[in-house]
Amino acid sequence: MKLFSSVNDVANINYLVKEALELKKNPFAFQHLGKNKTIGLVFMNPSLRTRMSTQKAATNLGMNVMVLNIDKEGWALELRDGVKMDGTSVEHIREAAAVMGQYVDILGLRSFPSLKDREADYGEEIFNKFVELCGVPVISLESATRHPLQSLADLITIEELKTKPRPKVVLSWAPHVKALPQAVPNSFSEWMCKADVDFTIAHPAGLELSEEFTQGANITHNQQSALADADFIYVKNWSAFEPYGKVIPSHEDWMLTNDKLRITNNAKVMHCLPVRRDLELSAEILDGPNSIVIKEASNREWAAQAVLKQMLESL
Ligand code: CP
Repeated sequence: MKLFSSVNDVANINYLVKEALELKKNPFAFQHLGKNKTIGLVFMNPSLRTRMSTQKAATNLGMNVMVLNIDKEGWALELRDGVKMDGTSVEHIREAAAVMGQYVDILGLRSFPSLKDREADYGEEIFNKFVELCGVPVISLESATRHPLQSLADLITIEELKTKPRPKVVLSWAPHVKALPQAVPNSFSEWMCKADVDFTIAHPAGLELSEEFTQGANITHNQQSALADADFIYVKNWSAFEPYGKVIPSHEDWMLTNDKLRITNNAKVMHCLPVRRDLELSAEILDGPNSIVIKEASNREWAAQAVLKQMLESL
């Protein structure tokens, strides 16, 4: 694998999940693959889970790891071509990405969307420029429109905990006070649409995701009907795709509570984290027996390790 930016870069998602679960049982079996190999993890935005789990996964595989919080520690980057750099930008992405590629065998990149320019965000301008210019395999640590390592960890978690061959999985929109990207729900949806699950998306009117990511999903504005008999509920806020980046207020009643779980099949509740307690998701669920958010975060390590293993095998 030379690029991991979406589910479309994966030859066989069932095989990748199986491989991740094998690595979980035996994390250090492939240290020879990463010996004398270096990964650079470049963050243009904050991270806890992605940074720590990917670093751990790479170390398990015997790799050297370099982390650069480029938003705080690097030179201010110019992303546009054809401009005279007489403003605040110090270095052009053309030199920066090419130089990074001299030091590493694999590059990981986190680049959030602006939520102001939909065309630029959905064109993945920053991520694609790094892919084009760095000259080494690239793994997405969350881009403007997708978070594939998160979605793989989510699928691994569902595979581990499901009690029937084809569970009902519901992506349920949650309230928030800030405009959040659509990357996690886009990505979760496109992975679930390829997995062997019965998949429903529930959100208030006006919060439709781009159809590019939801082909095959059942979509409803009725949270209660969506939750009926659910085996897994994936709670997540996102801002509007149209008008782009808008926060739609007055939907506090969409927060998941224990009372709403009564009509489910004792559903397990997921969230990618970080989560705002009693805003996005009730504390009673997070602290209760239905929450699997910590196990889900734990599986980020095995998701990253399975992907890095396939990348190392193709170097
Ligand atoms: N879920 C997730 O990607 O967490 P971080 O933003 O902390 O990496």
